[in-house]
Amino acid sequence: MAHYLITGGCGFIGSHLADRLLADRHRVTILDNLSSGRLENKPATARLVVGDVADPDAVREAMAGDDGEGVDGVFHLAAVASVQKSRELWAETHRTNLLGTVTVFEAARDARRGGPVPVVYASSAAIYGDNTNTPLKEDELPRPLSAYGVDKLGCEMHARVAWTIQGVPTVGFRFFNVYGPRQDPMSPYSGVISIFARRVARGEDVEIHGDGQQVRDFVFVGDVVRILALAMERRFAGAQVYNLCTGRATSLVMLLEVLQELCGSKVRRRHTEPRAGDIRMSIGDPSLLRSTFDTMCQVGLLQGLSATLTGR
Ligand code: NAD
Ligand code: UD1
Repeated sequence: MAHYLITGGCGFIGSHLADRLLADRHRVTILDNLSSGRLENKPATARLVVGDVADPDAVREAMAGDDGEGVDGVFHLAAVASVQKSRELWAETHRTNLLGTVTVFEAARDARRGGPVPVVYASSAAIYGDNTNTPLKEDELPRPLSAYGVDKLGCEMHARVAWTIQGVPTVGFRFFNVYGPRQDPMSPYSGVISIFARRVARGEDVEIHGDGQQVRDFVFVGDVVRILALAMERRFAGAQVYNLCTGRATSLVMLLEVLQELCGSKVRRRHTEPRAGDIRMSIGDPSLLRSTFDTMCQVGLLQGLSATLTGR
């Protein structure tokens, strides 16, 4: 049994990870400022520190554990996950998304008398920008378009510093578009599947930014947390980065068709201007993930969307 810290553990992906780690009989501490996360996402047996990931005192307190022994590892997921929000609140999202990560790496360096603790953290497909050489491999030149993508790339660069200069081992995952139950559908900044699934289920129109031919690689949250837990179990050194993706492409128009079929409804689409900095094609190559961890994403879109619609 180990004790892990999850930053952002009251959010969508973080709360699924907390459930999984607790089911595997680990102890869990969560650090979250509840900005997009929700208290009701916190599993009853997880310890919660309400605080800001860019505040060194809050991070240190969370990493000390409830017994002062210190945690065995950190899953760093706290971030402002919306690309669109990073356009509107540039400096504020930068503080959380980049300074928050450096704060976590620094605290991980100092966390234990026995040495630094390992960190598994969320990077993003957004670091590739509008690169059409799909499916994208990890060694493509990063060319992010958004402030969000630039900050995630900065996290990867600081992870290299964390290892080479500070001795903190990290594994970064470039999540593609993650979806599943519990993803908040109520904000305009939410992931597209959560918004469309809710609206199609209720027979309400959907808004498509642009022509709807933009393509994403949608990954089910259950696969994501299984792979995060697997990575932490491995003893790792260095500062490796992996795509976390399926390799399968789905356009928004296709996504809508599938949702309508599953719900047995037909909704109206309103096309609006494309979002500034929106990526046209985002499809990852999962080969390195497969060869390193001997696993792949297993949940197909139909199965994942059904689980999303039924909330399980
Ligand atoms: P989410 O918004 O549901 O979760 C983020 C959590 O971080 C929330 O609980 C929020 O309250 C917390 N948080 C935000 N700012 C904080 C701060 N300053 N201090 C402490 N806590 C803070 O989003 P998610 O989809 O679960 O994303 C989790 C991670 O995965 C993020 O790092 C995100 O950038 C990354 N990611 C997500 C996707 C996706 O498709 N959902 C894709 C690529 C990367
Ligand atoms: C998403 C994640 C981001 C992650 C990235 C990795 C969220 C909120 N964002 O960004 O954290 O790093 O994937 O690939 O989970 N759209 C509509 N109508 C809507 C909502 C969205 O047409 O009502 C379109 C958007 O313009 C975009 C696509 O759907 O073209 C996907 O948007 P969104 O779900 O916000 O995700 P990304 O911007 O890809």
